[in-house]
Amino acid sequence: MSNTIQGIRGMHDALPENASGWQRLEQVLQGILNRYGYRQIRLPIVERTEVFERSLGASTDIVSKEMYTFTDRNGDSLTLRPEGTAGCVRALIEHGLLQGATQRLWYAGPMFRHEKPQKGRLRQFHQFGAEAFGLTGPDIDAELIAMCARLWTELGIADLRLELNTLGTAAARKHYRDALVAYFSDHRKSLDPESRERLERNPMRILDSKDPGMKKLIDAAPSMDGFLDAGSAAHFAELSRLLEAIGIDYQINPRLVRGLDYYNGTVFEWVSDRLGAQGAVCAGGRYDGLVECFGGDAIPAVGFAMGVERVLELYASSASRPGTDSPHAYLVVAGASAQAHALHLAEKLRDQLPSLNLLTHCGGGSFKSQFKKADKSGAAIALVVGEEELRNGTVGLKPLRGDAEQSSVPASQLAAELKRRLGL
Ligand code: HAM
Repeated sequence: MSNTIQGIRGMHDALPENASGWQRLEQVLQGILNRYGYRQIRLPIVERTEVFERSLGASTDIVSKEMYTFTDRNGDSLTLRPEGTAGCVRALIEHGLLQGATQRLWYAGPMFRHEKPQKGRLRQFHQFGAEAFGLTGPDIDAELIAMCARLWTELGIADLRLELNTLGTAAARKHYRDALVAYFSDHRKSLDPESRERLERNPMRILDSKDPGMKKLIDAAPSMDGFLDAGSAAHFAELSRLLEAIGIDYQINPRLVRGLDYYNGTVFEWVSDRLGAQGAVCAGGRYDGLVECFGGDAIPAVGFAMGVERVLELYASSASRPGTDSPHAYLVVAGASAQAHALHLAEKLRDQLPSLNLLTHCGGGSFKSQFKKADKSGAAIALVVGEEELRNGTVGLKPLRGDAEQSSVPASQLAAELKRRLGL
């Protein structure tokens, strides 16, 4: 045992027993994003470190303490991506895809943050993200939110709460930040150690503190409302109206500030109360200044990303979870001479019934042990090919769930019979 090699803390294997959940979730997500006219972009997992330093903000938790950064053999500083937005912007500018065009895109894949692992918080996790470029109005904000809502409905996840806020323009945000620094500095002695550190680095994140002892102080802190510019206020009011028109409930949370520096205007989070401390399932907002910050034109943008593991956790416990991925049928082969015939039969069935999930027995063994394996596989039906069947040109068909007897079906009619019995 001491000789075995363990995986890395906070980086999990997705085991076969969970494969059907992952696959179904990915299918539903891809289906919805494609149907809304979003196209996939596949991005590298590693970027130059400056991609993240320049966009997420040097004082954010991610950049200051959570990035997997290393020097490669050329001496370049590279970083495993902690999120997808920055790399997406880098790629669009590099390939000239933002010139005079709007873009609606999605991406998926692993992200890496060296956070303290706990339930729902991993060091390698997966995101599905969507980003829209070149659109200024609240209509696109509403579309992105509606897309998430549709996903929750299709997955049968009923109890997510949408929290919404606006951070205003960069200038409004700066004034607000200054007001927070003044307020929390006056109460420095009452701050918990983490908030005291944030006061220097990233004062708006103090509003995110989960320390119950901080609640009273945070409740009495200045609110963004008083600093909001007229344009952002109007955008936010229109977004609220659009969400009401399409029947999406939301709660305005003036303390929602997000942990990345690139946001302005609309920000939102879908939150679950069923996931403990790590309740944010999906989050996003506007980042109108980011393209320019990467050397591109002033192109507005908005998007979101969801944590796939967190969505899966909710999906696994939701009532509408689909069945397992057990095979429909298990092919039992009795006798060496039947082997070639059985394999041929299996290939022919796969041609005739493309949706058939057929597990063929390999590795020999007695009839009894093969039936045991067939039963354990969860298959609905065992197909039997032995000497007798070979002689008669038939296949044995034995329902494995219930008491029905084995029957004999002419090989030429097997596909039609399986189609009928399995509803394929
Ligand atoms: P984020 O809030 O940092 O935003 O991450 C989005 C989601 O990823 C979270 O709501 C959560 O579900 C999941 N997540 C984050 N960290 C972890 C972790 N350590 N373990 C498990 N899940 C995690 C962004 O990444 C932005 N790029 C979203 C965005 C796209 N904004 C605009 N466009």
